[in-house]
Amino acid sequence: MLEKTGVGIIGCGNISSVYITNFIQMEEVELVSVADLDMKKAERRAKEFNIKNFEAPQDLISRSDIDIIVNLTTPEVHAEVIENVLLHGKHVYVEKPLAVELEDAQKVIDLARRKQIRIGCAPDTFLGGAAQTCRKIIDNDEIGMPIGAHAFMLCPGHESWHPDPGFYYARGAGPLFDMGPYYLTNLIALFGSVQGVVGMAKKTYDYRKIKSKPRFGEKIKVETPTHINGILNFSNGMTASLTTSFDVWHTTLPYIEVYGTKGTMLIPDPNSYGGEIKIKKEGDSDWKSVPIEFPYTENDRGIGVLDLIRSIKRKVKHRANASVGMHVLEIMHGLIKSAEEKKFVSINSTCERPPIMDDVTKGGL
Ligand SMILES: NC(=O)c1ccc[n+]([C@@H]2O[C@H](COP(=O)([O-])OP(=O)(O)OC[C@H]3O[C@@H](n4cnc5c(N)ncnc54)[C@H](O)[C@@H]3O)[C@@H](O)[C@H]2O)c1
Repeated sequence: MLEKTGVGIIGCGNISSVYITNFIQMEEVELVSVADLDMKKAERRAKEFNIKNFEAPQDLISRSDIDIIVNLTTPEVHAEVIENVLLHGKHVYVEKPLAVELEDAQKVIDLARRKQIRIGCAPDTFLGGAAQTCRKIIDNDEIGMPIGAHAFMLCPGHESWHPDPGFYYARGAGPLFDMGPYYLTNLIALFGSVQGVVGMAKKTYDYRKIKSKPRFGEKIKVETPTHINGILNFSNGMTASLTTSFDVWHTTLPYIEVYGTKGTMLIPDPNSYGGEIKIKKEGDSDWKSVPIEFPYTENDRGIGVLDLIRSIKRKVKHRANASVGMHVLEIMHGLIKSAEEKKFVSINSTCERPPIMDDVTKGGL
């Protein structure tokens, strides 16, 4: 039997149920406890999933039977929760984005380095079967040298379904900071770091009306751009466009399309783990569907935590790491800065392409 690592969750909101469902099935994870500022939410999740403990965040952080804490709070408190966990000597894995402000992200990265503790950062969809198969296609030179890409995240906003959608319109969210990490992490895993960006951004409405229960009809003040166009200049010389919007009712555009010297690849939704990959090469009359060659194709949120656990044991770098999270955060801020200042913005941080998941066998999930 595999040795189990004690895991705790802080933040028992909407996304916690997917993480809990998956953690319970992972042989290497012992989900010890869940916590939330709102104790009722923690209690509800503990009862729903038969978890032994639920408690206040500070009590969970102080436990001796937990090694990794998964931070599923809303973006504005990501950094302070990470800092608190690190100060208690535990590894932390945080939902995206790493932090709202770059300075706060750097502060927790420096703290983790000093204390020799790890920070993992979502999204982990780039570790899923579809994204990893796309990575193999690029690495095997099947579409040739990458020239460019277009990426589109277009939707009418999360206030139609999320039970508490206010945070999506605060600084540190909006379509770019909320959904951009899926696209940017995916592109970085395929093509490496970005060295500069140009952006244009628009806030279309001052207020949004909640269409979900229980806050149906309430108004949310919009404090962030909701339609952002960006161009990314990668260090490998390629350029990609990225549009993220919460202002679009309908679209016919793909999620991500990549153009290489030998052909074009269509990448499925980077906010999912599976999906259909298509390739059309020079001379092909039709698009060909490419079979997925890697595991994890369902809603496998948490495989980044599993990779963190395995990487700690093997003493290697984990894939969904803070350097990637930081680079993504700087790119997003760069796009907004470019839009505000009407100029090209250089990106100072870099990160390594996380290694392909060729050492992974399906197990635990
Ligand atoms: N909902 C989704 O579909 C989804 C998908 C992927 C990622 N995410 C990310 O997951 C994170 C959480 O999203 P959500 O939809 O679950 O939000 P949510 O608002 O439903 O839940 C957040 C929870 O965190 C708790 N919380 C806030 N501050 C806290 C603090 N300081 N200490 C302890 N608990 C605190 C809140 O009480 C709440 O229960 C966000 O970063 C979001 O971007 C959400």
